[in-house]
Amino acid sequence: MEERDVQFNHVFEQWADEYDHTVYSREGEYAEVFEGYEQILQQVVDELKLPPGSRVLEIGVGTGNLTERLLKQEWEVYGIDPSPDMRSIAEQKLPDFTVRDGHFLSVPEEIGQVDGIVSTYAFHHLTDEQKARAIRQLADRLNEEGVIVFADTAYADEEAKHAIHQRVREQKAFALLEDLKTEYYTQVPILQRIFEAAGLVFSARPLNRYVWLFTGKKS
Ligand SMILES: C[S@@+](CC[C@H](N)C(=O)[O-])C[C@H]1O[C@@H](n2cnc3c(N)ncnc32)[C@H](O)[C@@H]1O
Repeated sequence: MEERDVQFNHVFEQWADEYDHTVYSREGEYAEVFEGYEQILQQVVDELKLPPGSRVLEIGVGTGNLTERLLKQEWEVYGIDPSPDMRSIAEQKLPDFTVRDGHFLSVPEEIGQVDGIVSTYAFHHLTDEQKARAIRQLADRLNEEGVIVFADTAYADEEAKHAIHQRVREQKAFALLEDLKTEYYTQVPILQRIFEAAGLVFSARPLNRYVWLFTGKKS
């Protein structure tokens, strides 16, 4: 896959119109994945702890739900997403905000250096090799004392992965099971290695059964 390419735009072509219903509905196969969705977004904002005027980049904006919270802070906010369908919904909801075309491995140059990089429910679209390259590139974009804060699906370890797959099979949540097998949900120790190899101080804590909060601090 070339750096300009992304693998999952077709998924969001189908899902964009229903996406907000899925995340807020508290029903269906994805209910546990999105459990506490609004608190998860707010924890990402709170974890940034940046002063007014800071420059914050959001990657994988989707329908703009985290963006809306970022824009309430006194920060200069930039947003990118590779899916035209998701960008279009975000821009309808946030008419004064432009979501640029871009992705983890292709951040528009004009955005420049930033103090914070955030993302929710998006990093698992990259293979672990791509995750490592992305974190190296993003660490280079961070100003001194900058921070990366991601909330995303991951397993605590191999044992947790098997237990979750088994549970989802028993729940007959076959669409979710397919996602678990075809997207790149990684394991926390792998992410720790990736962040530390890029020179970042790593921390992780679980936010629900599927989602973890990951931070990488420059210093
Ligand atoms: C599940 S949605 C999450 C949207 C939003 N961040 C939220 O928390 O509701 C995943 C988003 O990541 C975007 N995405 C997919 N692959 C990506 C990539 N390689 N880099 C950045 N974003 C990507 C999709 O277009 C989609 O908008």
